[in-house]
Amino acid sequence: MGNIDWDKMDQNAKPPVTEPERQRFFIAKARGYVKEMEKRLGRPLTAAVTTFGCQMNAKDSEKLKGILGQMGYITGKTEEEADFVIFNTCTVRENANLKVYGRLGSLKSWKKDHPHRMIGLCGCMMQEETVVEKLKKSYRYVDLIFGTHNIFRFAELMAQRFESGEMVIDIWEKADQIVEDLPAERKYSFKSGVNIMFGCNNFCSYCIVPYVRGRERSREPEAIQKEIEELVKDGVAEVMLLGQNVNSYGKTLEHPISFAQLLRRIHEIEGLKRIRFMTSHPKDLSDELIQVMQESPKICRHLHLPVQSGSTRILQKMNRRYTKESYLELVEKIRKAIPDISLTTDIIVGFPGETEEDFQETLDVVRKARYDSAFTFLYSKRTGTPAAVLEEQVEETVMKERFNRLLQEVQTISREVCAVHEGSVQEVLVESVSEQDASMITGRLGNNLLVHFPGNREKIGSLIPVKLTKCMGFYYLGEEN
Ligand code: SAH
Ligand code: SF4
Ligand code: F3S
Repeated sequence: MGNIDWDKMDQNAKPPVTEPERQRFFIAKARGYVKEMEKRLGRPLTAAVTTFGCQMNAKDSEKLKGILGQMGYITGKTEEEADFVIFNTCTVRENANLKVYGRLGSLKSWKKDHPHRMIGLCGCMMQEETVVEKLKKSYRYVDLIFGTHNIFRFAELMAQRFESGEMVIDIWEKADQIVEDLPAERKYSFKSGVNIMFGCNNFCSYCIVPYVRGRERSREPEAIQKEIEELVKDGVAEVMLLGQNVNSYGKTLEHPISFAQLLRRIHEIEGLKRIRFMTSHPKDLSDELIQVMQESPKICRHLHLPVQSGSTRILQKMNRRYTKESYLELVEKIRKAIPDISLTTDIIVGFPGETEEDFQETLDVVRKARYDSAFTFLYSKRTGTPAAVLEEQVEETVMKERFNRLLQEVQTISREVCAVHEGSVQEVLVESVSEQDASMITGRLGNNLLVHFPGNREKIGSLIPVKLTKCMGFYYLGEEN
C-alpha cells in the first residue's frame, strides 16, 4: 500500500470516510507526530508489542507492528528500552489477565522516569467492561485502550492520543466490517497465519471468546486467495488458516462456500507448498473435509480437534454438541481415511460438577484417541459465561491432582506416538538455524514436530526430504535424504 507523506499533505484536509484509505491518512498523521518527537529526542522512536493468547492474537500483533512500522516506529525492542509498549491481551483464563496487570504494574515507574513514553492496551481483555473500569480507576498512566473489533483503527487512535495528550479509550461492542489491505509485519519470512474468519457462534458454556470476539464472520474467499497469492510471491511456503471454528467457514457469506471448498481453491495456488488450519470443532467436521485432506498433498496431515472432556454428561453441560461416542467415531473415521494423520487436542480439567468418573472418561478418550499432543487446562471461571454460575465448582486440590494424572497419561502416549516415525523419510520445512548448534538447522514436519539435522541457513524456507534417524522424546534428529 502506498504511503502518504504528511508534510506534503493539506493538513486541514478532512480524513476520508472509507477504509482502508482513512487509516492511511491517520498513519501519515501519526507519522507527523512521531517525526516531531524524533526531533525532540534526537533519535528514532522504538516500540515493543507483547502478545498474550492464541494465534489470532499473534496475527493481530503482526498487524499492529505493520502499522507501527509505517507510523515510523522501529519495532522488536524490549519493553524496557521502547518508547511505546502495547499489550495485545487474552482473557480466556484468569491467569492471562493476572499476567497483564502484573506487567502493567511494573511499567508504572518506567513511564514516570520518561514521561514521553506511552502504553497501549488492546485485545480480548479490553472487551470486558469490568477490566476497562479497573484500568480507568487504578491505571491512569495507560495512554490508549481499544478492543478486538476496531484494531484496524490503531493509527487513528494513536493520532488522537498524540493530539489530545489524554487517555484514549475506544471499545466497540461488535464489528460491522472486515477491513482488508492494512499493512502487517510478518514474524517469519517463510510461513504466515491467515485469518479466514473472526468471532465464534458456539457459546461453549465455559468460554469467553464469543463475548470478546463477537459473532462469526467469514472473509470473502477471493480476499483470502489474494492475500495468500501475495504472501507466496513474497516467499511464504506455508500458511496456517485461522478461525475459532474453521469447519463452519463460509456459512454466513452472501454466496456460501464450505471450508473444504475453500481449501480446494487454496490448494490451487501455485508456489504454495503447505496448508495448515486451526481450530476444528468436532461437531462440524465434514466428510468433504476428510476427502479434500486425502486428495491434497499440500494439506498437512494434522488435525487439532479439541475434545475438552471425555464425559458425555460434562460435554453436554459444556454445550459442545457431541458425545464421547460420536467423538471417538469421528476419530476412527479420520484415522481410517488418513492413517498417518496426527491428532492434537485441548482438554479442560475440573469443569463444574466433574466427578472422578467423568474424569476417568476423559482418560479413556486420551487412551483411545492417542493424541500426538494435548494442551491441558485447569478450568478457569470466566464471569459472564453460563458455567460461572453453576454450583458445584470443583475444589482446587482435586482439580490439580486430576490435572497431574492427565498430564502424565498424555505425555506417555505422546512419547510413544512421536517415536513411530523413526526411520522414515519426511518432508520438512526448514525454519531456522538450530539454537544449540550452528552447524545444524531446524525444520518442522507436517505433524508439527521439530527435527534437527546438519545444514546451513540457505535452506531456511525450503521444503526438503529428511530421514528421521532418532526420536528424542518430543523431537527428532535426522539427516537430509
Ligand atoms: N475455538 C477453539 C478454542 C479456543 S480457546 C475450540 O473451540 O477448540 C482455546 C482453549 O482454551 C479451548 O479449547 C479450551 O480448552 C480452553 N479454554 C477455554 N475457556 C476456558 C476456561 N474457562 N477454562 C479453562 N480452559 C479454557
Ligand atoms: Fe470458545 Fe467453544 Fe467458540 Fe472454541 S468453539 S472459541 S471453545 S465458544
Ligand atoms: Fe485469548 Fe482472545 Fe485468543 S481470549 S485465546 S486471545 S481469542
